[in-house]
Amino acid sequence: MLFYTIISILILTAVIVSIVITSIENNQFDRNSDLLSKSKSALSRQSNIAVIYFSRSGNTAIMANKIAEMFDAELIDIEAPKYKIGLKGLANAAMSFQDQEAEIIPETIDLAKYNKISLGSPIWFYRPSPPIWKFAENNRFDGKEVVFFNSYNSNYGQNHIDEFKSLVMKNGAKSFEHKAIIRGRMGSQLSTEEFLKEVVALFAEN
Ligand SMILES: Cc1cc2nc3c(=O)[nH]c(=O)nc-3n(C[C@H](O)[C@H](O)[C@H](O)COP(=O)(O)O)c2cc1C
Repeated sequence: MLFYTIISILILTAVIVSIVITSIENNQFDRNSDLLSKSKSALSRQSNIAVIYFSRSGNTAIMANKIAEMFDAELIDIEAPKYKIGLKGLANAAMSFQDQEAEIIPETIDLAKYNKISLGSPIWFYRPSPPIWKFAENNRFDGKEVVFFNSYNSNYGQNHIDEFKSLVMKNGAKSFEHKAIIRGRMGSQLSTEEFLKEVVALFAEN
């Protein structure tokens, strides 16, 4: 009897936590999508700088959008249907520490015309998310300056960033730089305005 009570409490806790996280993520996604929809002009820009990113709940997306605005760069979104916002996408993301492969759209991009490429991703389980690994695996960066950027809540592993750098350099990059913004843990996170201010400060150094 005690066994079943404990199992029921654990399952109930997991369900409640998932629902709370999904609702926080949905709010972030809606707020970030709203902000992005107001600056669609980035999609029609022509530039020799590209900002290419994957984002689930939109934080890396608004970071990418701000960087593209700052450098008058083209903005390209990588989609990964498996990790779409919502409970199922969250469950898939929560299992993603096992993932080496991810379906991404587009799989490849002709990067020939760009001199500089900023690549963005959230941090999942201390490492860049699977879609950006897949993109870096699929594409050549011959002679490009690559800036890798992340949004994250609290921690990442430098060893994973170093591993990602090795992949990008193996695929031809001329240089690799890493920049990341910590948003804080759920419940005490930077506001959108504070977050974007930090993006401007971090990238103004270039
Ligand atoms: C499955 C999953 C795992 C995560 N793991 C980490 C982590 O290890 N360290 C961290 O600081 N943040 C972690 N986060 C938080 C995200 O990095 C952070 O919320 C990020 O800003 C989300 O970016 P996005 O809105 O572009 O998807 C994780 C989020 C998810 C969904």
